[in-house]
Amino acid sequence: MSANPLAPEWLVHPDDANALTPAVWPPSADRDGAGAITVAGASLTALASEFGTPLYVVDEQDVRTRAETIKTLFNEAFAALGSRVDVYYAGKAFLCTAVAKWVVEAGLHIDVASGGELAVALAAGVDPALLGFHGNNKSLAEIDRSVGLGVGAIVLDSVVEVDRVSAAAEKHGRVQAVRLRINSGVHASTHEYLATAREDQKFGIPLADAPAVVAQIRASKNLRFLGLHSHIGSQIFESAGFAEAARRLLAVHAELLKDGEVPELNLGGGFGIAYTSADVVTPIASIAADFARVVSEQCAELGIPIPIIAIEPGRAIVGHSTVTVYEVGTIKDVRVDDSIRKYVSIDGGMSDNIRPALYGADYTVRLANRRSDSDPALVRIAGKHCESGDIVVHADYLPGDVAPGDLVAVPATGAYCWSLASNYNYLGRPAVVAVKDGAARVIVRRETEADLLSRDVGVTA
Ligand code: LLP
Repeated sequence: MSANPLAPEWLVHPDDANALTPAVWPPSADRDGAGAITVAGASLTALASEFGTPLYVVDEQDVRTRAETIKTLFNEAFAALGSRVDVYYAGKAFLCTAVAKWVVEAGLHIDVASGGELAVALAAGVDPALLGFHGNNKSLAEIDRSVGLGVGAIVLDSVVEVDRVSAAAEKHGRVQAVRLRINSGVHASTHEYLATAREDQKFGIPLADAPAVVAQIRASKNLRFLGLHSHIGSQIFESAGFAEAARRLLAVHAELLKDGEVPELNLGGGFGIAYTSADVVTPIASIAADFARVVSEQCAELGIPIPIIAIEPGRAIVGHSTVTVYEVGTIKDVRVDDSIRKYVSIDGGMSDNIRPALYGADYTVRLANRRSDSDPALVRIAGKHCESGDIVVHADYLPGDVAPGDLVAVPATGAYCWSLASNYNYLGRPAVVAVKDGAARVIVRRETEADLLSRDVGVTA
């Protein structure tokens, strides 16, 4: 069989439509004797029958290992320079109490970006000193609570926040450590909506304004300036953008050192992961080495000491840990030109993974409950929502005998799927099950019909 002309150019017609691409699936993913996909030793068939579908299945050890690896690789790269790297897990990617505990046990800090994310970290028992608080529009209540709790750092995003945080610190009798978020103007190569450091956007302040704002921070006895912060975007494959941002920030960092201490430089997150076999990702070890090289060269040139580096990866820690398992409901062979696209509809959709609809993101899919040697057919995995844009996988090949009742699994759904999930069409959000050494446990339960009705004050019974 040859490639379907409706397939996008990047999609290779598979020799084996049962194969699990290692770069995309959790490393523990395999198939058992019955042909079912297993994650961390647990069969997706068994998990689906025990916990229902759709189901997010998280490989706990994968999250722990990636968190530890990122911390280790960056620290090895900077230890040689006499510095260190503090890793903040960007909780927005996927936060629940279990994940918060795993990353803290791996030695990471957590970056939270709202009172809600803060509440989850606190519920997990995370020491507030390990938290960084982000956001371009923190409410006064969020600032007051964070300062009162003693969060490790607040990232100031605008000039007005200098006074707001200073006043809260005064009220609580504290000195609050702060970073200043800079819009470096670096254009990271990524999807337009994910790029956060172009000039025409809402985050941070222009680099040229930094000295004046830092002077304001230093003038407050209730604030301690940690350093500049830059996050150039998300799902970035090359380190060139980070390097350029580091160069620009360090030039100003050096200026700021003339009037006081600047212990740290925060270069944000955004390290890309492979969603399909077409994504070529720079390994974290190379990114760490690139960061170290650029920072050391630039610091040498400027004649300044190497600061503590902070980074904030989210996707690179949780992205590959999770697969979403769905049950196939209906199938339609839709004729397009002279070819057939098989629409396979599943029991979830844009409510559990909005990324294809929102960013045109590509995912892949595999038959999860069995293997099949049937000829591969080009499929589109559609959700069950009332929108034609409700697509979870735009294009992949599945064995052509895929049938209603089969299970399919979509890998690399650990980041920004659960956290962006909705109740569109009043679908309950799926459960999250963590698997480790063959054993599974629910870490977030499935939303029930009662949950869906719970806030509607017109519901009487
Ligand atoms: N730090 C800051 C200040 C951020 O805004 C973000 C992500 C991160 C760190 C973590 O970025 P990561 O390492 O996970 O790429 N919903 C989009 C991504 C939005 C990212 C928002 N900020 C998506 O699904 O691709």
